[in-house]
Amino acid sequence: MDQRMSEQQTTSSPVDRDTGKAATQRAPSSRPAWSKDTESGSAGDQATAAGDIVFDVRDVSVHYGSAPALVNVSLKIRQREITAFIGPSGCGKSTFIRCFNRTNDLIPTAKVSGRINYHEQDLYAKEVDAVEVRRRIGMVFQKPNPFPKSIYDNLTFGPKVNRMKVNLDEVVETSLRRAALWDEVKNKLKQNAYSLSGGQQQRLCIARALTVDPEVILMDEPCSALDPIATAHIEDLMRELERDYTIIIVTHNMQQAARVSDRTAFFTAEVESENNDRRFGRLVEIGDTSMIFSNPNDKRTEDYISGRFG
Ligand SMILES: Nc1ncnc2c1ncn2[C@@H]1O[C@H](COP(=O)(O)OP(=O)(O)OP(=O)(O)O)[C@@H](O)[C@H]1O
Ligand SMILES: [Mg+2]
Repeated sequence: MDQRMSEQQTTSSPVDRDTGKAATQRAPSSRPAWSKDTESGSAGDQATAAGDIVFDVRDVSVHYGSAPALVNVSLKIRQREITAFIGPSGCGKSTFIRCFNRTNDLIPTAKVSGRINYHEQDLYAKEVDAVEVRRRIGMVFQKPNPFPKSIYDNLTFGPKVNRMKVNLDEVVETSLRRAALWDEVKNKLKQNAYSLSGGQQQRLCIARALTVDPEVILMDEPCSALDPIATAHIEDLMRELERDYTIIIVTHNMQQAARVSDRTAFFTAEVESENNDRRFGRLVEIGDTSMIFSNPNDKRTEDYISGRFG
């Protein structure tokens, strides 16, 4: 396939409002172990732009059985940014975020078509190990889901399963510090994780995701079960983590998207035809968060963020 041709096709998409921030501010991307060697020494701009992009999603659709849940989505996710997915219930946000670490593979009826490149490697290629994908691209869910084990065991589970040659005590401390939880739990690491508050449990789940050294963290409504103070903690934490990680967050909270994200993608649910009530999600637009919230391209985005729809 001609890489450049398909690049041009996707970047000319009317929904892509990529403003092209200076790529030189970012560290070079780490390439996945399964990645084929890609062309080096190509034109400077192109090479840097590619390094700045973690995911390049091209024309992705997801069906459950024969029912479409999400159709023809193309967008790019930039390194060390927070990208928010917003849109009304049922428009396919959770379905879509699961595509990024292949957790849709675990749903027998789900079928993903199109292409998602992760550092220029097809994430769904046969030779790609889905377990390794989920190590590099971690996930945090709506409801905190610590294992019914001690705080310490929650954090050493991933490194042990992945046979990582690391000092476990160090991993526990580092991940808890990064998740801004160390001071609260350092004297009770042997206590059951369920003894923590909901907000602490969610930070523990974020810490657990960090223990296996991921590059990307996917968060599907990570604050929806939390009170405003615990939510503020997680939002502060996200801004800290953004320095080292690429984050995608699904949120129903417009203020949260506006507060934490660099870029926002707005999805909507369309009715398939007048004759049936089947709905499927579609990307309306993606752009810098400040633009999406102050001056969106599409009237549907404006209606949604101003609360007139959805
Ligand atoms: N496991 C599944 N099996 C069958 N259909 C599913 C499955 N998960 C989601 N769907 C369908 O796919 C569509 C999109 O659902 P999804 O959960 O992705 O939406 P969402 O935007 O995350 O909604 P919400 O904001 O309520 O969380 C819906 O029509 C839903 O019924
Ligand atoms: Mg959802």
